[in-house]
Amino acid sequence: METEAATTLAGRDVSQPLSKNSHLLRWVQKMADLTMPDSIHWVDGSQAEYDSLCAEMVEGGTFIKLNEDLWPGCFYARSDPNDVARVEDRTFVCSLSKDNAGPKNNWMDPFAMRKKLKGLFKGSMRGRTMYVLPFSMGPVNAPMSQIGVQLTDSPYAVVNMRIMTRIGIEVFKEIDKGIKRVVPCMHSVGAPLLGGRKDVPWPCNREKYIVHFPETREIWSYGSGYGGNALLGKKCFALRIASAIARDEGWMAEHMLILGIENPQGERTYVAAAFPSACGKTNLAMLIPPAAFDGWKIWTIGDDIAWLRPDENGRLHAINPETGFFGVAPGTSAKTNPSAMATLAKNTIFTNTALTPEGGVWWEGMTDQPPAECLDWRGNPWTPQIGKETGATAAHPNARFTAPATQCPSFLAEWETHNGFPISAIIFGGRRSATIPLVYQSFNWSSGVYIGATMGSETTAAATGTVGNVRRDPMAMLPFCGYHMGDYFRHWIQMQRSLTRTPRIFHVNWFLKGEDGKYLWPGFGENMRILKWIVDRVRGRAWAEETPIGWMPRYEDLEWTGLDLPREKFQQLQSFDRAAWRKEVLGHEELFIELHDHLPSEMVYERELLICRL
Ligand code: OXD
Ligand code: MN
Repeated sequence: METEAATTLAGRDVSQPLSKNSHLLRWVQKMADLTMPDSIHWVDGSQAEYDSLCAEMVEGGTFIKLNEDLWPGCFYARSDPNDVARVEDRTFVCSLSKDNAGPKNNWMDPFAMRKKLKGLFKGSMRGRTMYVLPFSMGPVNAPMSQIGVQLTDSPYAVVNMRIMTRIGIEVFKEIDKGIKRVVPCMHSVGAPLLGGRKDVPWPCNREKYIVHFPETREIWSYGSGYGGNALLGKKCFALRIASAIARDEGWMAEHMLILGIENPQGERTYVAAAFPSACGKTNLAMLIPPAAFDGWKIWTIGDDIAWLRPDENGRLHAINPETGFFGVAPGTSAKTNPSAMATLAKNTIFTNTALTPEGGVWWEGMTDQPPAECLDWRGNPWTPQIGKETGATAAHPNARFTAPATQCPSFLAEWETHNGFPISAIIFGGRRSATIPLVYQSFNWSSGVYIGATMGSETTAAATGTVGNVRRDPMAMLPFCGYHMGDYFRHWIQMQRSLTRTPRIFHVNWFLKGEDGKYLWPGFGENMRILKWIVDRVRGRAWAEETPIGWMPRYEDLEWTGLDLPREKFQQLQSFDRAAWRKEVLGHEELFIELHDHLPSEMVYERELLICRL
């Protein structure tokens, strides 16, 4: 291992500690005593260290190096089939009182949970290395940033985190200043190597626990090496823990992409958009406007998480706390998202895609023609014929790419700007094959909060469980809100008080289907037409019609050059079905009943108003 001279401590190899912070040193020691790793490695974040960890994983069988001519700097991993997605049923928010976690989070008494975790973590790193991985969510040293240290026995997590966050020496220096509170993040795949047992390519445990202690700001994750379960800066910290911090401090941690829309005059409008997992956030964030939009440009700032804070003038500003994209591979292609394809063309880690005989990767939707043969995500031979006969896909539906954001051609270079970008519009969106129109605008902030709070979406493969059921996913935060959902709505309502100009709120649905089961809206680049209307609304330049659910564009309010979408089809896309909406409101009511004792009265009033208008 390419690090400073190793010493031994309590019989184990320890690389030179890279921090002088006594709390950190003590905690590392305590956790090493608990988990009993063979060695401890302080992560410096260097390229040499990354290369060396990747080489070790190639050696150990976790990684396959892809063909350097086709996929320079890229690696491929196959996970254990029991570890392919976030495990929402194994995710816990262990606040001191159950009431604070609310009915939408799994809860266990924090004292009982700590006991349980201590048992699980005891000796869980035996035979392995424990990595001390410091990370900053947001630019190191920026006022809006937050710091964590992940102790992990997964080198896969370390190299992915190096792409997804800022890690290493710079962060240790920040910790040593002793100004910012550090969030401790414990992570073990739960597969100790006892008695010289040989390692497997993807160690994990059937028993999984993804646990958050919001009051003490701690994360403990056990048993999984996959995505949001293991890259603890992402969902665990930047959403669950950060949402609780944000509520206390008057800002917002949201499951949102951030993009900038530039018109031919160079005027930029920034928007943030919340969509549930695997509903096209990455595609929207990297949209390339159609030819008719000559001179327009979309700037990508983030594809998954936004931290929003009012500035001194009361304008909501957003930063993306991440530095990479952990995107869903299936469906991504040169047609649907050329910028993503360019982003992932090098220095990317692929997990659970298919592997081609040339040493490349493939997934459903990447090309019109599948490869004649390949190995599927489980490592079994796959051909289009096998796929047809067995229904097996070559890539897992939640196969991912981990790619550096700076490689995205539409990436906005100034994104390190410490105060973030002023947000003019917030867009909510779900995956709904019926009922919810293509686009509408809320009447005001509180009706917009209602729209976000009652958002529904069909479930996807991003989490384990059934795919395709409509579930209420408020602000796309159902799996990510670190406290009571009713209090979360209240926080949204109250944010208005610290804003002099609230962003306008919209709802979109790209996923409406006709009677033939086909999508009615072409989506992808054509979504630019909707974004332009949103920009024009925000800037007071576009017309809209009042309907019972909000303001809607008429056919003539959208730019149609270059797209042959008949007026009748648009009317179908924008149609408002009173009976279906009455049923929809019953779904809202079910959610509200569950949250009733914490539900802000504004939500009840908004529902009543909606019912009256219906
Ligand atoms: C993600 C998710 O990985 O939402 O971004 O599941
Ligand atoms: Mn996400």
